[in-house]
Amino acid sequence: HSIPPRRPVDIASRTPPYHKLVTKLEEVRRVLGSERQLTLAEKILYSHLENPEESLLSNTNNGRDIRGTANLKLKPDRVAMQDASAQMALLQFMSCGLPSTAVPASIHCDHMIVGEKGADTDLPNSIAGNKEVFDFLESAAKKYGIEFWPPGAGIIHQSVLENYSAPGLMMLGTDSHTPNAGGLGAIAIGVGGADAVDALVDAPWELKAPKILGVKLVGELSGWASPKDVILNLAGQLTVRGGTGFIIEYFGPGVRTLSCTGMATCCNMGAEVGATTSLFPFSPAHIPYLQATHRGPIADAAANIASLPMQQNLLRADPEAVYDKVIEIDLSTLEPHINGPFTPDLSTPLSKFKDVVEEKNWPKTFGAGLIGSCTNSSYQDMTRSEEVVKQASAAGLKPVADFLVTPGSEQIRATLDRDNTLSTFSSAGGTILANACGPCIGMWTRNDAPKKGESNAIFTSFNRNFPGRNDGNRATMNFIASPELITAMTYSGSTTFNPMTDSIPTPNGPFKFTPPKGSELPSAGFADGNPEFDPTPGVPDPSVEVVVDPKSTRLALLDPFPAFPDSELTSLRVLYKVKGQCTTDTISAAGPWLKYKGHLPNISENTLIGAVNAKTDEVNVAYDVDGTTSSIPDLAKKWKEQGQEWLVVAEHNYGEGSAREHAALQPRYLGGRIVLTKSFARIHETNLKKQGIVPLTFVNEADYNLLEACDEVSTRGLLDVLQSGGKGEVELVVKKGGEEKVIKTKHTLSKDQCGFVLAGSALNLLARRGRE
Ligand code: F3S
Repeated sequence: HSIPPRRPVDIASRTPPYHKLVTKLEEVRRVLGSERQLTLAEKILYSHLENPEESLLSNTNNGRDIRGTANLKLKPDRVAMQDASAQMALLQFMSCGLPSTAVPASIHCDHMIVGEKGADTDLPNSIAGNKEVFDFLESAAKKYGIEFWPPGAGIIHQSVLENYSAPGLMMLGTDSHTPNAGGLGAIAIGVGGADAVDALVDAPWELKAPKILGVKLVGELSGWASPKDVILNLAGQLTVRGGTGFIIEYFGPGVRTLSCTGMATCCNMGAEVGATTSLFPFSPAHIPYLQATHRGPIADAAANIASLPMQQNLLRADPEAVYDKVIEIDLSTLEPHINGPFTPDLSTPLSKFKDVVEEKNWPKTFGAGLIGSCTNSSYQDMTRSEEVVKQASAAGLKPVADFLVTPGSEQIRATLDRDNTLSTFSSAGGTILANACGPCIGMWTRNDAPKKGESNAIFTSFNRNFPGRNDGNRATMNFIASPELITAMTYSGSTTFNPMTDSIPTPNGPFKFTPPKGSELPSAGFADGNPEFDPTPGVPDPSVEVVVDPKSTRLALLDPFPAFPDSELTSLRVLYKVKGQCTTDTISAAGPWLKYKGHLPNISENTLIGAVNAKTDEVNVAYDVDGTTSSIPDLAKKWKEQGQEWLVVAEHNYGEGSAREHAALQPRYLGGRIVLTKSFARIHETNLKKQGIVPLTFVNEADYNLLEACDEVSTRGLLDVLQSGGKGEVELVVKKGGEEKVIKTKHTLSKDQCGFVLAGSALNLLARRGRE
């Protein structure tokens, strides 16, 4: 059919509100004193505060202990959502009844597309298989003025870098690798859907002020070393928990030697060390990248801001800014690294890798090399890999392992197609997959599939390598490295091959690679690509009807949760007493359940199915009052039908793991009112309050032993606490065999959060405010 005309780019909505931000920065300076030296991350973050004085001076020793203490109430500029997490975010947004989103937003269809036979077959098949979900997302996007990037348009983080990220921007994204946008000087944070909704409805989004980890770069990369190796090395130094509670801020003379997309790669994988986000300062490489991606006016505006005097300079750290911790990396001596298997922080320099493979008895061969994805599909990455392929082809070599290429966006795919990079890959035997997540999120059928459980290896330029992530086989050892290194290694098929030192035998004698150079940006500019993949405009259209089939098994509109009664909670029952670890995966399992993310009743069938029964050690076996047994979700559903509300009792760090909001939504949907634990993981505790569940902890941990499944529990003091905005304590009165016991508890309900619980949920409160 006919090709639609290209849609014009709305530069205004993509430019950060610099004037407003600089004015806010001046206000921050007034609050903290003009001599106070701020890091770049602090400048951008604090310039997005709703009320700098309130956030920076409350409980912070008069502004001295902000980092790690202050509760920042932020107003992000933009929201980006991927197709899997956008469903619940939009369903929640819709229940607020607002006509459009308060800030510009975008949806990117990337996670539900397989990587199997190549883009031409995989894309139509995936669209057909998920049509209902894509139609829902598109209609909601059009109605509320969200830019909709259809399946095949690209991976969220690549599209965001090419279109929305900009120096000084603050954005939330419903995906953990959202920090990729920090390569272009933005503060971009990965969140759950309910948090994204805060920004979409113009409610402040809360964040404990992060500490700042400075990474000082000196020297310059050369040879095989690439930006990927910066973050692979850093992950090894920090481990998967080392960045928790920190923003990673890069600085130092080495920064200006890196490409914009290389900086994005470093920021993308900052998620692997648990960092809140990562960012780079405004750098010379940002200007040509913004210009090449049709955003010249944003480059000019950012350059102006970056040249302001320090007091107003939003885009550079103050000269004496102090970091909570500093790590220095010398790019000139940095070696290529290979990280894995099974964890991204197990980092080995290339020169040692052969010895480690032998010592640990890892497989000597590998089945597939995969390059591209949201982490590494820039023009520079791909042209460096192309040079490697050209050298090998000229020597008459073909890849020994399967070679798969995932372009990150239609723009990069079309450019690589025009410049013959893709044809170089495919004539060498490579497979070009759709512009989507595919193998990175496990949507991959391997050609060379070994038996489940059989030890084997693959190499990827992706970011995560948890067991089973790519091919569903927990025995597959997934090693992460730069795309050019992986490309070279596929020509040997050996895990011990080092292209810097080793050669490959050919009939004409041994062949050795020379280090590839690549090009930072295409000399002919980026190609436009297929206009069918252009986003819909971000203009709301109230006439659009959002399509949700009432018979759907994958999507269901949300009914608002009921408000808190005008009384204490009486006659709750303990649904389940959990023993030991209880992560968000235990409460709401992933894997096959992911397809129900937009259908709360259906996904609730997995509620707590991984939880261990404290009395019997059984997993997912619940006992009703009359002793009959069932699964936990079945008992919860039965009690819901009977109008019997309930609580869960658990041990330490309840709700650790991902920020999955379903772990709070589901218990609430099934009639849960309280979760009583020895301690909570912070994000999950907040999520519970947002959905109207009261999280309580034991004053005396030993009281955990006083409770059993099916005990009858009433609250004392809870209504007062809620009505007074968090003042006072809550006691639980437990009735057992005619006896009453009182359990003292603690809570962390703030005034706002009391409002959430009273209204039934944060959304109910926001919807009410929207109507007023
Ligand atoms: Fe996530 Fe897709 Fe990247 S799965 S890691 S966004 S390629």
